[in-house]
Amino acid sequence: MNNRALSQRARAALPGGVSHELRYRDPNPVFIDRASGAEKWDVAGRRYIDFKMGSASQMLGHCHPVIVEAVQRQAERSLFSADCHVAEIEWAEWVNRLYPSAERTRFTASGTEATMLALRLARAWSGKDHVLRIDGHFHGWHDHALKGAKPGNDRATSLGIPQAVNDLIHVCAATPQALRDALADDRIGTVIIEASGANYGCVPLETEALGALHDVARSAGVVLIFDEIITGFRWSPGGRQARDGIAPDLTTLAKIVTGGMPGGALCGRADIMELMNNATMRDGLAPAVSHKGTFNGSPLVAAAACAAMPLLASGEAQAQADAMAQQMRDGMNAALADRGVRGLAYGDSSIFHLYFGRSTLEGLTPAQIRGLPKAQVSAYRDGMLKRGVDMMAYTSGLTSAAHTPALIDAALDAFDDTLSEMIDSGVLS
Ligand SMILES: Cc1ncc(COP(=O)(O)O)c(C=O)c1O
Repeated sequence: MNNRALSQRARAALPGGVSHELRYRDPNPVFIDRASGAEKWDVAGRRYIDFKMGSASQMLGHCHPVIVEAVQRQAERSLFSADCHVAEIEWAEWVNRLYPSAERTRFTASGTEATMLALRLARAWSGKDHVLRIDGHFHGWHDHALKGAKPGNDRATSLGIPQAVNDLIHVCAATPQALRDALADDRIGTVIIEASGANYGCVPLETEALGALHDVARSAGVVLIFDEIITGFRWSPGGRQARDGIAPDLTTLAKIVTGGMPGGALCGRADIMELMNNATMRDGLAPAVSHKGTFNGSPLVAAAACAAMPLLASGEAQAQADAMAQQMRDGMNAALADRGVRGLAYGDSSIFHLYFGRSTLEGLTPAQIRGLPKAQVSAYRDGMLKRGVDMMAYTSGLTSAAHTPALIDAALDAFDDTLSEMIDSGVLS
């Protein structure tokens, strides 16, 4: 099969030929047929070293045998019956044990739904409709998450969002002073922060800075939400909050928390979470905070999650992934230096980012960090893909427990060749 022909067919059936706008690619994306470990193969049989890893969800590697077996076993018992079941209890107990701020957990069908639910609960608890979020931080695609999602621009990144919704969302810089100033507006009852810093740490948020934001939110008495949809089970088994000892009121999770299956979770303080308890039923209609969703906590997803949890809880998977990302960052910086290209590979935990043009991010705004010329970003991504290496969005990539030093060495060879090509074509100097 041919990727180009499939793309033409896809564009006649799906808007843009895709199911997620970030999968769009000109002239065509590659259509993946199968994946294993840290590699995947397209319909034409080409192999790629994967640094996207299911949009950061496949922390243990693609098709980990323990997870595949658990899903197969569950599929034979019931795909879905919309009933309570044992695995959802076990799964929630794992989350409550691993996440320092988690006393209760509720499952959702995606990360977007987790942040949507978090904001609803926080508003119900605080009695305040206005929400403060940080410039450029990403929290999914629902109406209340898109204003300020692009750094340096506090407009919503989509048409179709009511102005009345956008008016409830306030955006500030990731500094204690900016947060303090914004929270002087006492209509705000909630602060939401992407725990890695914007875009999985592309705009870094150091531990001290996160701690300072936490302290400001605490002294203002607002509900503090950490979006750990990327950092959860990656920065450590208990996410960033366990690694750095900084606890929010509510935490959103997705991607790894499901064992790499579709879904998400919200966990947090019992008193806030219990607003969803049916014992709080109002007027015989619904609990104080209503939360439904047919596929929440589905047995198939719970089976994968419960199989993954013991493999994620020891910290070994995270240590392996971190070491591979460090090898990648070191190798990229060495290649940049060898070729005399000013640039920087950086990142925390098992994520690496690349910036061209300067060897430090100091003094750059989030909009500048995310504002590399399109030609550079495309030449880099296309150059790597052509050489069999697939990256996450922009200039970022991430590793899993299945990446090996040999795969990283091969990816670094591709990186060096791509740099050389970019210099020759004048995209880099
Ligand atoms: C930090 C963060 N929050 C929320 C989301 C939305 O999650 P989902 O794509 O599962 O809706 C994402 C997805 O990439 C994310 O990275």
